[in-house]
Amino acid sequence: MVNLFDESSVSKIGMGTWQLGMKGWGSGYEEKELIAALRSGIENGLNLIDTAEIYGMGKSEELVGDAVEVFDRKRFYIATKLAGFNANARRAKRSLLNSLKRLKLDYVDLYQVHWEPSIYTSIPELFVELEKEVKEGLIGHIGVSNFSVKSLEKANGSMKEQKIESNQIKFNVVERPNPTVLEYLRQNNIKLIAWSPLAQGFLSGKYTSNNRPTGGVRRINRLFSSSYFNRFGRLLSEFQRISNERGASTIQVVLAYEKFLGVLPIPGFRNSRQVSDIVSANSLKLTEQEIGSIEAALQETGTLETSIGFYPRLLPNFIARLGFLFI
Ligand SMILES: NC(=O)c1ccc[n+]([C@@H]2O[C@H](COP(=O)([O-])OP(=O)(O)OC[C@H]3O[C@@H](n4cnc5c(N)ncnc54)[C@H](OP(=O)(O)O)[C@@H]3O)[C@@H](O)[C@H]2O)c1
Repeated sequence: MVNLFDESSVSKIGMGTWQLGMKGWGSGYEEKELIAALRSGIENGLNLIDTAEIYGMGKSEELVGDAVEVFDRKRFYIATKLAGFNANARRAKRSLLNSLKRLKLDYVDLYQVHWEPSIYTSIPELFVELEKEVKEGLIGHIGVSNFSVKSLEKANGSMKEQKIESNQIKFNVVERPNPTVLEYLRQNNIKLIAWSPLAQGFLSGKYTSNNRPTGGVRRINRLFSSSYFNRFGRLLSEFQRISNERGASTIQVVLAYEKFLGVLPIPGFRNSRQVSDIVSANSLKLTEQEIGSIEAALQETGTLETSIGFYPRLLPNFIARLGFLFI
């Protein structure tokens, strides 16, 4: 069976497009600029694009569709997501067809279940249905997002010909999941796609405790508080020092280190300049000495453990759907 990520043609860093949905990300995100940025990323080798049906309630998929329509289909890989509240055998195909319509495509390369479905849903029935859609040629590979080991086991155990190819979870230099999840993914050759690889910009070097992002989802991100800027100050300075020495930006060094950890980061962006930075990170390789000095700083600061499977699985789907109107 072909593993999507074993193919050398898939870039080691992808482009995240929650920001293309705009709602929730505040001001300064221009549609035209985002499409141009996405196109420049593809032209320069960032060929994996991550989106989801819930980002801007379809807006992100529409803009991704507008951006990729000028390229040959073999030039890019699209990963989209089935919202947890639509993740059951009855609704999955309709969601998939709607995503394909917005993306203006006849198949997606990776279809990910965005978060663990509600407890009223049968995980085995859902994955049997997704396997059918692979057979029909609508999906290349099946992935999940925010899945615990227990749900991964259930999903994998229910499929005959496919396997779970990837688990997209929150992972960045300072925020990491429990090691048991990492170990399970490693043992089962499941790729970790890292969401929030820049910790929503906390790791970019652009923000300080006196200059925090305003508006949108970042207002509730605990990292943008004085105590975390203090705690991780030594680490942020280390990234800054290496980036100065290498003539690179901080985010290039951050993403290069995350690549070294074996994950596939999918940073979000707001313009072509940021994408060009991400393109440079795709080819940046850190030296052993640089990695050693980052890890020495991490020994001092420690990391934060992120939870997986935190979504409200007890809520009936129609109530959960209302809660996501603003994403
Ligand atoms: N599966 C899930 O549940 C899930 C959840 C969240 C996100 N995701 C995916 O992961 C992607 C990325 O995660 P995220 O949205 O949390 O954000 P992120 O990638 O951690 O941070 C994105 C922010 O970093 C800043 N940035 C990017 N490039 C930069 C550069 N070159 N220089 C300085 N700053 C730069 C921008 O902030 P400024 O606006 O400040 O410039 C950008 O909005 C999303 O787009 C989405 O595809 C998935």
